[in-house]
Amino acid sequence: MLLTRQRRRAVIAGVVTVATAALGLGLSTQFASAQTTLRGAADDIGIDIGVAVNDSLLQNNQAYRELVAREFNSVTAENVMKMESVQPSQGQFNFAPGDRLVNFAQQNDMSVYGHTLVWHSQSPDWVENLSGTALRQAMENHITTTMNHWEGDIFAWDVVNEVVGDNNGQLRDSFWLQGMGENYIRWAFEAARAADPNADLYMNDYSIDGVNAKSDRYYQIAQDLVARDLLDGMGFQAHLILGQVPGTMEQNLQRFADLGLKVRITELDVRIQMPASQQELEQQAQDFQRVVEICTNIADCSGVTVWGVRDGDSWVPDVFEGYGAPLLFNDNNQPKPAYHAVLEALGGDGGPTTPPTSDPVTTTPPPTGSGCTATLTVQSPWNTGATYAGTVKANQSLSGWTVTWTWPGSERISNAWSIQGTLSGATVTASNVGYNGTLSAGQSTSFGFNITKPDGSTASVPTVTCTPA
Ligand code: XIL
Repeated sequence: MLLTRQRRRAVIAGVVTVATAALGLGLSTQFASAQTTLRGAADDIGIDIGVAVNDSLLQNNQAYRELVAREFNSVTAENVMKMESVQPSQGQFNFAPGDRLVNFAQQNDMSVYGHTLVWHSQSPDWVENLSGTALRQAMENHITTTMNHWEGDIFAWDVVNEVVGDNNGQLRDSFWLQGMGENYIRWAFEAARAADPNADLYMNDYSIDGVNAKSDRYYQIAQDLVARDLLDGMGFQAHLILGQVPGTMEQNLQRFADLGLKVRITELDVRIQMPASQQELEQQAQDFQRVVEICTNIADCSGVTVWGVRDGDSWVPDVFEGYGAPLLFNDNNQPKPAYHAVLEALGGDGGPTTPPTSDPVTTTPPPTGSGCTATLTVQSPWNTGATYAGTVKANQSLSGWTVTWTWPGSERISNAWSIQGTLSGATVTASNVGYNGTLSAGQSTSFGFNITKPDGSTASVPTVTCTPA
């Protein structure tokens, strides 16, 4: 069995942390890099920077897809892998929306975190009406069938979500508990371990970010499950209020890591009472930065997932009245102060806070009359690299396209989005990915990539040839 992407990352992260600790240097000092995307910086230090993906935006909004693919190296389904979506009627499984996300992730070299198998919320009515053996069988069948379907595609699962209540650390009085008694948690993990022995198995909850009665209860449950080799990780949702990162958060995550578990921030957002002032956006940047630093400080922190892309995509305003603006991008797809703070916390270059001033240089368009035309534009150059935007315009209806060019010097692509193919050498041959191949005459689509180049050199703009598939 191949190592999963996540497991490879964890190994790299361990090495990095040991090295930094030995040198007594902070991560951000030692690993400040020229990376100008979150995923570039996160890849360099071997952790996941994830995002919750909304299925209808994934299907319908190209700017959204591009932003997700450019900035994140891991995804979680915001809703479509929950039980009401996966098994709306007993025995009838609906994997198509989840498959859509898995395909998108694979096309863009991202890992997929599974959320969630057993939860009191967003479960179908039919299961809520069962109890006893029938409920146990339904739970186990749901876990087995779902995990088998995505075996090898999903590296980790929230097996149970929110099983402790808000009442002094008692188990949540859900239909699962009422129908089966407290052993249901262990039974869920036994079924999950058997279904996919290579997946990491997590518990996940909110308001357990700091040390408190609720996280204490999880600590007890975790000890028991670890002793049975049923648990691999603990997920901390971290739906936070501005200025309220718990002072004990690092200590709390560390105690779970000390049990031999991975820890992960699974649903990060920082909500602000609206309207948000500039000062509050700066405070929010500090809060995000602190949470990411907590993860980079802990060797076994597998990553940080943000619960949505743009502020307008967030669940927060629907659920927390008067609150909003909890994410890293605004509704024009532009990064907020919190974005730059996260990039810095990941060891990246903090990036420009205003759009780059250099004049874009564009290729001469190829002769008219060919099936498609493509251009490259240098978007933001820096000393040792640059970000490029590419456009493909269809001159006839297309079911796919390939663009190719040769770098004049030692420029090389380091990471790319919305294209796939032979990308890393001197001659690049890149094709559309799943969602941007079909174009009608006159329609355009875009892609992008970062390159590395000799220090101080000008980012060149090679001539691109576009061929219909
Ligand atoms: C939320 C989604 O963001 C919403 O779109 C949906 O309507 C309700 O669920 N804890 C969890 C997530 O584990 O699944 C929840 O997601 C947010 C709280």
